[in-house]
Amino acid sequence: MESSLVLWLMLIATLAIFHSVQSQDQQGFISLDCGLPANEQSPYIETNTGLNFSSDATFIQGGKTGKIQASSVGRLMKPYTTVRYFPDGTRNCYSLNVQSWRRHLIRATFTYGNYDGLNIQPVFDLYLGPNRWATIDLETMVNGSLVEILHKPTSNSLQVCLVKTGKTIPLISTLELRPVENGCYISNSSSLNLHHRSNLIKSGSNLRYSNDTYDRVWESYFKMEWNQISTTLDVDNSNKYEPPKDALKVSATPTNASAPLTIEWSSANPDAQYYLYAHFAEIQDLQANQTREFNSFWNGELYHGPLTPPKLSVTTLFSKSPRTCDGGKCSVQLIRTNISTLPPLLNAYEVYTVIKFPQSETEETDVSAIRSIAASYALSRINWQGDPCVPQRLRWDGLNCTNTVVSIPPRITTLNLSSSGLTGTIAAAIQSLTQLEILDLSNNNLTGEVPEFLGNMQSLLVINLRGNNLNGSLPQALQRKGLELFVKGNPGLRVSDSSRKQLKNKVSVPIVASVASAAVVITVLVLFLVFRKKRSKTVEDLPPPQSTPTVNDTFANNNSRKFTYSEVIKMTNNFQRVLGKGGFGMVYHGSINGSEQVAVKLLSQSSTQGYKEFKAEVDLLLRVHHTNLVSLVGYCFEGHHLALIYEFMPNGDLKQHLSGNEGRSIINWRIRLQIALEAALGLEYLHTGCTPPMVHRDVKTANILLDESFKAKLADFGLSRSFQGGNESHELTVIAGTHGYLDPEYVCTRRLAEKSDVYGYGVVLLEMITNQPVISEKCHITEWVGSTLKRGDITNIMDPNLGGAYDSNSAWRAVELAMACADPFSSKRPTMSQVISELKDCIVCENSRINNNGGLEPQQMSIVLDTSVGPGAR
Ligand SMILES: *[C@@H]1O[C@H](CO)[C@@H](O)[C@H](O)[C@H]1NC(C)=O
Ligand SMILES: *[C@@H]1O[C@H](CO)[C@@H](O)[C@H](O)[C@H]1NC(C)=O
Ligand SMILES: *[C@@H]1O[C@H](CO)[C@@H](O)[C@H](O)[C@H]1NC(C)=O
Ligand SMILES: *[C@@H]1O[C@H](CO)[C@@H](O)[C@H](O)[C@H]1NC(C)=O
Ligand SMILES: *[C@@H]1O[C@H](CO)[C@@H](O)[C@H](O)[C@H]1NC(C)=O
Ligand SMILES: *[C@@H]1O[C@H](CO)[C@@H](O)[C@H](O)[C@H]1NC(C)=O
Ligand SMILES: *[C@@H]1O[C@H](CO)[C@@H](O)[C@H](O)[C@H]1NC(C)=O
Ligand SMILES: *[C@@H]1O[C@H](CO)[C@@H](O)[C@H](O)[C@H]1NC(C)=O
Ligand SMILES: *[C@@H]1O[C@H](CO)[C@@H](O)[C@H](O)[C@H]1NC(C)=O
Ligand SMILES: *[C@@H]1O[C@H](CO)[C@@H](O)[C@H](O)[C@H]1NC(C)=O
Repeated sequence: MESSLVLWLMLIATLAIFHSVQSQDQQGFISLDCGLPANEQSPYIETNTGLNFSSDATFIQGGKTGKIQASSVGRLMKPYTTVRYFPDGTRNCYSLNVQSWRRHLIRATFTYGNYDGLNIQPVFDLYLGPNRWATIDLETMVNGSLVEILHKPTSNSLQVCLVKTGKTIPLISTLELRPVENGCYISNSSSLNLHHRSNLIKSGSNLRYSNDTYDRVWESYFKMEWNQISTTLDVDNSNKYEPPKDALKVSATPTNASAPLTIEWSSANPDAQYYLYAHFAEIQDLQANQTREFNSFWNGELYHGPLTPPKLSVTTLFSKSPRTCDGGKCSVQLIRTNISTLPPLLNAYEVYTVIKFPQSETEETDVSAIRSIAASYALSRINWQGDPCVPQRLRWDGLNCTNTVVSIPPRITTLNLSSSGLTGTIAAAIQSLTQLEILDLSNNNLTGEVPEFLGNMQSLLVINLRGNNLNGSLPQALQRKGLELFVKGNPGLRVSDSSRKQLKNKVSVPIVASVASAAVVITVLVLFLVFRKKRSKTVEDLPPPQSTPTVNDTFANNNSRKFTYSEVIKMTNNFQRVLGKGGFGMVYHGSINGSEQVAVKLLSQSSTQGYKEFKAEVDLLLRVHHTNLVSLVGYCFEGHHLALIYEFMPNGDLKQHLSGNEGRSIINWRIRLQIALEAALGLEYLHTGCTPPMVHRDVKTANILLDESFKAKLADFGLSRSFQGGNESHELTVIAGTHGYLDPEYVCTRRLAEKSDVYGYGVVLLEMITNQPVISEKCHITEWVGSTLKRGDITNIMDPNLGGAYDSNSAWRAVELAMACADPFSSKRPTMSQVISELKDCIVCENSRINNNGGLEPQQMSIVLDTSVGPGAR
């Protein structure tokens, strides 16, 4: 099927005539005519499809262009007549800018067409980032090969790479990207490889853009035992999948009305997992005494039913979890029920296989740092393409990386640009390689001073700057224990005596430093040591919490925010009303001047620390302002009395509402989504809007507070960093956070990052969806949802208190999002910004349900119908 598809795709369709009046735009489309000669017009409009093709030259750094000899296959459409081929290098990559986390249809085609006159059909691999996508075997697929995938890129840069696997030379004809609505083809964090896509029509050309908005290619397919019915009326195709109207206007039914309508396929891989999307629309004008109703069976087992296709309007049948087929042979049968007077009908369908991409891409910051370094030295190494670290055998020259576990993003640990003809100064981007251990820039022509930042990179163990033209003096910070520094052969570089001592016998630079500059260096060094000594002393000599510190320095600005202990007693009316028990002590209700209501958190003594640290912390928190963060009104620090005074949140915390405790009301799905969104906005602000960025560390439902209008605000951010202990729910170890919400990767690596908050947030979202305990009978909520999902039943997952009042699509998306956030591997978790955009989509879905006043809502078990939502509702 695939080979005929590619052939069709390329051949000039004799019937299809492109109408130059374009109804749909090609927003976000990337259509590359690979190997288009430089002297030809680019971009150009392909006349059969109206697609705006452009040359691939600016998307790839290597390769040569060739023209195929078309005689063997027939007259081809222009984009397929040229190829880019790659005689040099093992891996050559296209680098495409995409919207991360957005589902994309990615399609590549390959036609050898004897472009080199050698008649040797190549075999090679195609990679998506660091993962193998497909083997392109043109020895078998002599007429050309087509691969297509539905994939959500994890970063904004998508790398499509051709990798040599033998002696033959990789080539590519076209590369196309189409953004697809995220709410369709949902597949549980895997990607979907196209198996086949069929439009059931006896004859006629296949369909693609502009008949299909997403430019999916629908291949005409029909069987002997079928009858064709068609309509000239308009068919509403406006569900998430938007199959082309032209495909819906024609359908197949079995000629023998009591026989099943059967579609079959097979795969070489018997373990393949499939997703089927079947599109139905009733296009026959039914009489009053006629009915069409049928069940679907997957390899003989009931799959869904009964179904009556809606009149002149699409319904898409799809499964929420993948299916397998015994022995790799699949058969789907539609069989009419005994009340049906008409045979079953099918208009179009798609089959995909699940494809998993286990290898994480190299940490994004390392990738952008190394690309920036390459750019600043104008390096154009043939193998510096695609992912810098993985796959390991294709790692960039001069790099070494950590990559022991495929699911953890590799980090760059060695950068060796020795003898690479580098000129200019030492690139500032180097400091962004925060796990760099070995830096070798020897034997280049680098000029300027040795930058200070090198000394501040704590991970560095070896720096080799030999044989350059560096000048100035060595930064003091480079004189650090455990750092080996090589600077020989830089005639302009001054090395002080103390530095010399540090460098031991590794350098023998002629003494060029003047007495004066040496004195300066020594003074600085002495000051540095004194300062250091003093600093460590201050840490040891902190005043005990009992003695009242004098406040006269940086706190001055915030003095109005400082309250005495007696004021605290007064505002809480002697701690009369307890609001709750937080992570660091009791919380009391209070009011300032009898009007402004506040929550006063009395910090338990075990959580006290030095005044300076407390002050620094509070200073920071007083500066953080965001509508979705509980704001700190003031503080009290007097003797051993420590208190933080926050704005009061009358509706308590989310946890109480979910549990219905303390007479709290149950909140509906729409408001839950809104609360989830607001909490996400608060977290995103901490992660990206604050300098320095903050990690909350203790994201949980008890820390999401609700104001009088149920607006959500995050509480307790920034605290657990410095305030340890005080409550049994906190592990009294170095690991801060609450059991059940703790990022497993953080627990292992002890490295805290924003993605740890994303994990906690995922758990919160799961609680909001399910109202299940985070931990029950040794089973974590993620495991519970995962195993319930396997049975594919959303109704068993959703909080029964919701009473089924939710849009099932928005529910599915929320579950999928929550599971992605709570992925054990941080690299697979989305960022908070991605979470926000997905939640907004969920809210749109739910709103349209509410607006339709809960119209017909299919709540089928594992099989879901996506019915047309009708114009105007989207
Ligand atoms: C084709 O795309 C390019 C940008 O890639 C754009 O500048 C050009 O206007 C487009 N041409 C047409 C006819 O849409
Ligand atoms: C290639 O195309 C030719 C001509 O259309 C056809 O006869 C042949 O079967 C095709 N080969 C394959 C492997 O599809
Ligand atoms: C595709 O759409 C065009 C314009 O609407 C129409 O003229 C043409 O017939 C359609 N193609 C098919 C195969 O239905
Ligand atoms: C029609 O299909 C039914 C059920 O498969 C079968 O029993 C019957 O023999 C078929 N009739 C004809 C004429 O083929
Ligand atoms: C349905 O009604 C039409 C007349 O309206 C009649 O000719 C036909 O036989 C009926 N079909 C069945 C299956 O009853
Ligand atoms: C989602 O993926 C996980 C891990 O691959 C798997 O355990 C789970 O069953 C999948 N869920 C569904 C609904 O396919
Ligand atoms: C139709 O089939 C169902 C079960 O498959 C059976 O219960 C019912 O009696 C049947 N109805 C008729 C009219 O045969
Ligand atoms: C790369 O680093 C690993 C350990 O991280 C080490 O075992 C290996 O020898 C290094 N390879 C090179 C070429 O330096
Ligand atoms: C860097 O690479 C050069 C060869 O290109 C090699 O001689 C040198 O030992 C390498 N440096 C380190 C620190 O491995
Ligand atoms: C190094 O750079 C300096 C100044 O740009 C230049 O004069 C010198 O020729 C260069 N040396 C080499 C070996 O490239």
